[in-house]
Amino acid sequence: MVREKERYLLHPAIIVHYDITPSKQASLPRYLYHQATFRPTPVHSVNLAGQTAIVTGANSGIGFEVSRQFLDLGLTRLILAVRDEAKGAAAVQKLALKPDGIKRESAATVEVWKLDSFDYGSVLSFAKRAKRRWRDSTSLC
Ligand SMILES: NC(=O)c1ccc[n+]([C@@H]2O[C@H](COP(=O)([O-])OP(=O)(O)OC[C@H]3O[C@@H](n4cnc5c(N)ncnc54)[C@H](OP(=O)(O)O)[C@@H]3O)[C@@H](O)[C@H]2O)c1
Repeated sequence: MVREKERYLLHPAIIVHYDITPSKQASLPRYLYHQATFRPTPVHSVNLAGQTAIVTGANSGIGFEVSRQFLDLGLTRLILAVRDEAKGAAAVQKLALKPDGIKRESAATVEVWKLDSFDYGSVLSFAKRAKRRWRDSTSLC
């Protein structure tokens, strides 16, 4: 089956087009080519003011980068859901600075909440805490 020109909607302002077949996309040459050449389109046209986001695995890797980009887009409240709160606190320090080391101009509130997704009790506690706290629009990444 060929999935050509499918559109993946990540956000009303962000549409990603995949115009190659899955088998070609998953091939090793394609993977290597993509790693070397892909440059994501910077997103500027989204304003997340007034929004709250919970980002899991936020102290490193993709979660950290998503957190950074959310703050760049004006997010009002960011919850870093991490299993190690010391690492979470370190991530908060890093997020306070832009990549060039200059302090970020952001009025966002950034909080660290404990979440170990291997521990069902921790997941339940996290969910209860979030439920108590908000009933407004929240993104989960
Ligand atoms: N679909 C794709 O194309 C694609 C591409 C790349 C990555 N991914 C996936 O995206 C995820 C993140 O990738 P990454 O490269 O950012 O990985 P990473 O740098 O290893 O980050 C993983 C994050 O998850 C946290 N984490 C791990 N186990 C956890 C647990 N039990 N409870 C709570 N947090 C936990 C880690 O916290 P600690 O620092 O405490 O370990 C870390 O913050 C992975 O699942 C990866 O497989 C998908």
